[in-house]
Amino acid sequence: MAAEERDAGRSQRGNQPPLIEGRGLVKRFGGVTAVDGMSIALAPGEMVGLIGPNGAGKTTLFNLLAGTFPPTSGEILIAGAEVSREGPERRIARGVGRTFQIPRPFAEMTVLENVLTGAQGQAGERAWMNFLRPARVAAEERAAVERARALLDFVMLSPLEGEPARILSGGQRKLLELARVLMADPRAILLDEPAAGVNPTLLELIIERILALHAEGRTILLIEHNMDMVARLCGRVVVMAAGRHLAEGRPDEVARDPAVVGAYLGAAA
Ligand SMILES: Nc1ncnc2c1ncn2[C@@H]1O[C@H](COP(=O)(O)OP(=O)(O)OP(=O)(O)O)[C@@H](O)[C@H]1O
Ligand SMILES: [Mg+2]
Repeated sequence: MAAEERDAGRSQRGNQPPLIEGRGLVKRFGGVTAVDGMSIALAPGEMVGLIGPNGAGKTTLFNLLAGTFPPTSGEILIAGAEVSREGPERRIARGVGRTFQIPRPFAEMTVLENVLTGAQGQAGERAWMNFLRPARVAAEERAAVERARALLDFVMLSPLEGEPARILSGGQRKLLELARVLMADPRAILLDEPAAGVNPTLLELIIERILALHAEGRTILLIEHNMDMVARLCGRVVVMAAGRHLAEGRPDEVARDPAVVGAYLGAAA
């Protein structure tokens, strides 16, 4: 690979740019620097773990990559396109979906309706289409409901589709969150602690589903404190501490890296 090509941030896989890339990202909230010069790149189809002690800046990095707010400085690229100032809807349209660390489903809406909120760019969103093309809108709505039902089946929540989301357990909310994000058929998914607070049976289901999504060719960045789970899913792990890139490598390598162990001990102290 030519040096210029490496400089351009090309991935190792052929000539494609990374699907998701953050370069020198900084995010300040008043006096707090949550992300402090962080860079990360995921090749198309890669599944990468993002770990680090509480408060390391992992969720804030997700918010930057998903367009929740713009970086204070630094750049975000999706498939080589500079998107740093684009909002979350544009990022979703570019194929980047994300789940939230603490899912907040619409409590009184049904499970099925909550999944439908993840749909993008339906004809029904444009009011004039409702007027001009009611048949097309109806057909798209039917297709969306069909897709939402298939996704509820994928996360094994079908029996609860008509129930209000407020009755779901913490683990079921994580699964609902996954189905909602998949409605937009993202090629890249940012998963923020998909297994936190989940019982062992649901944990296995979540791991299986993440593997299936990766096998379909989707690019996945996974924040997770459960190292066994990270080791099962990810060949490469990036470690963040104090807003920065601290280390990266295979899960077993980073787990015994003294700098990583030190960062966790430091954060616990
Ligand atoms: N909206 C905000 N306003 C002010 N400070 C914030 C905001 N979001 C995050 N922070 C601060 O930024 C730092 C990083 O937080 P972040 O949630 O990104 O960490 P994390 O690595 O996801 O931690 P955890 O593992 O506990 O989820 C923390 O000090 C946090 O208090
Ligand atoms: Mg977090």
